[in-house]
Amino acid sequence: MTETLSYDILIVGSGLAGLRAAIAAASKHKDLKIAVLSKVQVMRSHSVSAEGGTAAVLYDNEGDNLESHIYDTIKGSDFLADQDVAERLVNSIPKEIIQLDRWGMPWSRRENGRIDQRKFGGYSFPRATYAQDKVGFYEMQTLYDTCLKFDNISFFNEWFCTSILHEGNNFQGFTCIEMKSGDFYNIVAPAGIICTGGAGRIFSFSTYAYSSTPDGLDMAFRAGIALKDMEFVQFHPTGILPSGILITEGARGEGGYLINSDGERFMKKYAGEKLELAPRDVVSRSMITEIQNGRGFKHITGVDCLKLDLTHLGEERIKEKLAGIREIGIKFSGVDVINEPIEVRPVCHYMMGGIHSNLNGATEFNGLWVAGEASCNSTHGANRLGANSTSECLVWGTITGELAASYAQKKKNSSINIDNQQYLLEEKRIYDGIFRGRGDVNPYEIKKTMTDTMDAKAYVYRNENDLAEGLRKIRSLKELSWKHVNDQAKEYNTNFINVMEIDSMLRVAEVVLMGALNRRESRGAHSRIDYPVRDDNNFLKHTLAYYDGDKGPRMGWHPVVFTRYAPVERKY
Ligand code: FUM
Repeated sequence: MTETLSYDILIVGSGLAGLRAAIAAASKHKDLKIAVLSKVQVMRSHSVSAEGGTAAVLYDNEGDNLESHIYDTIKGSDFLADQDVAERLVNSIPKEIIQLDRWGMPWSRRENGRIDQRKFGGYSFPRATYAQDKVGFYEMQTLYDTCLKFDNISFFNEWFCTSILHEGNNFQGFTCIEMKSGDFYNIVAPAGIICTGGAGRIFSFSTYAYSSTPDGLDMAFRAGIALKDMEFVQFHPTGILPSGILITEGARGEGGYLINSDGERFMKKYAGEKLELAPRDVVSRSMITEIQNGRGFKHITGVDCLKLDLTHLGEERIKEKLAGIREIGIKFSGVDVINEPIEVRPVCHYMMGGIHSNLNGATEFNGLWVAGEASCNSTHGANRLGANSTSECLVWGTITGELAASYAQKKKNSSINIDNQQYLLEEKRIYDGIFRGRGDVNPYEIKKTMTDTMDAKAYVYRNENDLAEGLRKIRSLKELSWKHVNDQAKEYNTNFINVMEIDSMLRVAEVVLMGALNRRESRGAHSRIDYPVRDDNNFLKHTLAYYDGDKGPRMGWHPVVFTRYAPVERKY
């Protein structure tokens, strides 16, 4: 018998966006019951690994201004950002920085005690507000501490949500598995917020936590909500080898630079003004071009790479500002960046796409919002600037939390009658289709082949043949008989959870490839060598993908919102 729990607001995901949404909702109406559901313990959410900063204009008296942050964001997006959304981000983030400060965030400070900011790629001023190089960890700790002060926020750690319950386009709740007991639940509420983060584990070489799989995206997709702009995958220039762990852009913000095998600081050829602090799409393409022209290094594993040199920064500065990445270099690459350059290569780091939502983070379902990387409200268009992601999580955490609270308050006395058929079908999908599945192909091999295929076919430079081959491969993997679980235990069955994750990864990988094939132009992080030019006449529009059962996604387009900024050629 499936048990049903009842709340006023359900937040799925306990990263920065989820925690900020919980606080916003809990503060707005103190009598609302809020549940934060997460497949991991709160402080294991991937947000803890954000390193370099949160972008905001803090010092207009020093020459910075909101207009400049808005324009940098829109230009960085290669003019695909919805301009009203970029404006909302920039106008709202300064007060979030101050709010975090009030809640105890240990921002790094200047000599005079004021909050410090560092340079980051694509910005006209130092705007990345930082706490050494562990920004995400400290922001998460600050928000989690704050959440614990509210009696009306309950945490459901290690609960895996599998589907959205809804009546037509009205949100009603989620189906979930409590991982500890293995019990299946319906949790109902008039309002929900999906904050499940990005899907970057569909690539093998990735900065993401292994838990960053597209469960939340896929849940929305299967329920009938569009995924938007999924072809835009950000490759961060500096992933270390072989793990892919991030070396923050803050390292270049502090003065680090990239060199090729001729010892040349090659970025001067590609971005004469901004050099290594050009936006990530520009730097990653330049790196791959250097490698393709024979000026890369070979890592001991045989992988081509370049080097990031920080040695000139000196021991004291590195220990003060970049202690985290120094430790990462020593432990995971065997390199102490104080003494020698470290080998790096562009690595999957962020998905500009996500669940289709509007300026307010509202989805196509009444009562359902989305915030943070899981969302695509089109803040970042075709390429996000570094440090604008934690900003997005904080801003839309607050916006969606407050809106969900107002909505839930109005619905407080209405009852929710879920359609039994929906959760029975979901039980059948996951228990008959996966848990008791009879597949004979190892699902973990499917996952490895899928993620390697994405690395090989949808990396920094793309072309029709590779993308079509990648799509055929992903589709052929879907057809194989791999949906089964060796471990038949009921409690803590991570094998079962993994196979459900792989199921969602395959569907979302297909959407990424379909979007990339359809977009016959180069824009931001999507760079087609067969269509090398940005084509505003035909492609200045967002991609939508709707679930269409076994047929694969049904693709469409959606207009970009313009306010004041006409597209121009991007030069750095
Ligand atoms: O390089 C970094 O620290 C990453 C920041 C970001 O993705 O916003």
